[in-house]
Amino acid sequence: MGETVVEQIKPFRIDYFYTTENNIKGKRVNSIEMSNADAIEHAKKLVSNSKKITAFTGAGISVDSGIPDFRSDGGLWERFEPHEYATIESFKKNPTKFWTMGRALAETILQAKPNSAHIGLSKLESNKKLIGIITLNIDNLHQVSGNKRIVELRGNYLRAYCVECNKEYVGETVHQRVANGEIPPRCDVCKGVLKSEAILFGEPLPENAMREAVELCRNTDLMLVIGTSLSIYPAAYLPQLAKNEGAKIVLINLEGINRNDVADIVIRGRATEIIPKLVEY
Ligand SMILES: NC(=O)c1ccc[n+]([C@@H]2O[C@H](COP(=O)([O-])OP(=O)(O)OC[C@H]3O[C@@H](n4cnc5c(N)ncnc54)[C@H](O)[C@@H]3O)[C@@H](O)[C@H]2O)c1
Ligand SMILES: [Zn+2]
Repeated sequence: MGETVVEQIKPFRIDYFYTTENNIKGKRVNSIEMSNADAIEHAKKLVSNSKKITAFTGAGISVDSGIPDFRSDGGLWERFEPHEYATIESFKKNPTKFWTMGRALAETILQAKPNSAHIGLSKLESNKKLIGIITLNIDNLHQVSGNKRIVELRGNYLRAYCVECNKEYVGETVHQRVANGEIPPRCDVCKGVLKSEAILFGEPLPENAMREAVELCRNTDLMLVIGTSLSIYPAAYLPQLAKNEGAKIVLINLEGINRNDVADIVIRGRATEIIPKLVEY
C-alpha cells in the first residue's frame, strides 16, 4: 500500500443510505429472506464454527455507552457542520473552530464506559476466537474493555500532538485544558497548535492501520460488521474485501443500510442486545 489514501466526505445527511422497503424488517435485500430471530441463530452458529473472527466497528457500537453517532438527529454534525469544523483544511485555517467542537465531543467521550457489546468482543478475543478489531471509532472503548489487537482507522481522540514539533500529549490532559477555556491548546515547548490524533476529513488514513486492516480482512473467516453505515470510503470497502477473500459477513445494525448486499446475514437491533447473544456459543 504505497499510495496515500485520503478519505472522502460523502453527503452526511445520507437518508438514501438507510432503509428501503426490502430491508426494513431486517430481511436480506437480494437473497434468501430470514427473520431476525433466524438471522441471530445462523450468526450464532457461524460464530461458534469460526476460528478467526474479525469485528469491524463503527459509531453504533458506542451509542449505548452514551456517545451518539454523529449523523443522527441531535448528533454532532447537526451542531457543527463537518466541512466547516472537521476537515483538515478547516483545522489549519481556524483551529479554534475545531477545538470548540472538540470540547463538546470530549464531554461525551471522556465519560463513556464500555458496554455489553464491547465486552462481548473482548470475551471473543480472550477465548481465542477473535483475531482483531478494525474500528472507525476514536473513543478508546475497545482498549478499555480489554481487547489487544485493535486497528484504529481514524485515530484516537485520547491522543494529541503538536503540529509544529510533533510532541505527543495525553488527550485527557489536553481536553481538560480545552474544557478550562484554552482554545486552541498550544504546545508547552514551541507554542504550536495541538491537534487531536483523530483523523479529520481530507487527512490521509494512517497507512499502517490500513495495511493491518487489509491483512485482517485476508485472514479472517468471519467478519462481524457492527454499527457502521459503511458510508466513508475506502474503509467501507473492507467487508467486501474480506468477503472476496472467502469470509462470511454478518451485518449488525439498528437500521438497514444500503450495503446489505455485502452480507451473508443481516441482523437488525442494538449492538448491546445482539452481541451478547452471539458470543454465548
Ligand atoms: N464513538 C466514536 O468514536 C464515534 C462516534 C461518532 C462518530 N464517530 C466517527 O464518525 C465516523 C462515522 O462513521 P460510522 O460508519 O462509524 O458511523 P455512522 O454514524 O455513519 O453510522 C452509525 C450506524 O450505527 C447504527 N446504530 C446506531 N445506534 C446503534 C446501536 N445501538 N446498535 C447498532 N447500530 C447502531 C446507525 O443506524 C448507523 O447506521 C467514524 O469514522 C467515526 O470516527 C466516532
Ligand atoms: Zn511543539
